[in-house]
Amino acid sequence: MRWPVVRRGTWDGREGRCSEGPDQVKETVKTGHIPRHVAIIMDGNGRWARQRGLPRTAGHRAGAEALREVVKTAAQLGIEILTLYAFSTENWKRPRAEVEALMGLLVEYLGKELDRLVKEGVRIQVIGHPEELPPQVRSELERALEATRSNDGLLVNLALNYGGRREIADAIRAIVKKALEGNLRLEDIDEGLVQSHLYTAGLPDPDLLIRPSGEMRVSNFLLWQIAYTEFWVTDVLWPDFRPYHLLEAVRAYQARDRRFGGL
Ligand code: IPE
Ligand code: IPE
Ligand code: MG
Repeated sequence: MRWPVVRRGTWDGREGRCSEGPDQVKETVKTGHIPRHVAIIMDGNGRWARQRGLPRTAGHRAGAEALREVVKTAAQLGIEILTLYAFSTENWKRPRAEVEALMGLLVEYLGKELDRLVKEGVRIQVIGHPEELPPQVRSELERALEATRSNDGLLVNLALNYGGRREIADAIRAIVKKALEGNLRLEDIDEGLVQSHLYTAGLPDPDLLIRPSGEMRVSNFLLWQIAYTEFWVTDVLWPDFRPYHLLEAVRAYQARDRRFGGL
């Protein structure tokens, strides 16, 4: 079938620009190739709040709420891995009160959502340096990891205190350590070896990277892994991001011609 023309970031099944309802769109999208691994830079919370004259933390709260339905839809579509950029190594530069509010929301989100995530078969993992997060966040994360460990549904990979450059530096350190200890020869260092020392070791690279809020940059996210990832940027701010937008992104992905440098 032919898809209606989609205007970047504005399509919404409810607005009637599309003859099908969201459930139909979901069914049609499901018949196409579903990306195994989708990564999202959950950006635009602050702008969402400012537009409403609210404090930035209200934007973060609305962002956490937007996540719930997106996770559910990702699982329904059969996406295997959803990697979510929730807090970068650079986000510590923000005012202390905002960082504390973000950490508090993380605790609250995990506390409120864990039962549902367990029931939905979601498995939670963390990439980044969670050991540097406040103790309450760490214990809530450990609880979530433990409770979802044996689930085999959608893998939700939370990027927390994550930096792509730091990840690569960490990999280099681990590789050089092995070499210095005599457990690795120079000839052993290839792309596969580097990959196996990243936080995402064992996971396929993202097929699709979604960036809400219109920024055309990667902000230190998954630098190694996105070599051949398809990008989809929308002006929609993360708190306004709905399952429709995920469907729209997947549908755009399905129309892409991925050549990986070949023909
Ligand atoms: C994303 O929203 C949340 C985090 C980075 C933790 P922002 O807070 O960056 O929102 P904007 O970019 O200021 O709108
Ligand atoms: C990227 O957003 C990080 C997260 C969404 C967690 P930022 O708001 O930190 O990125 P920049 O500063 O606009 O590049
Ligand atoms: Mg931002």
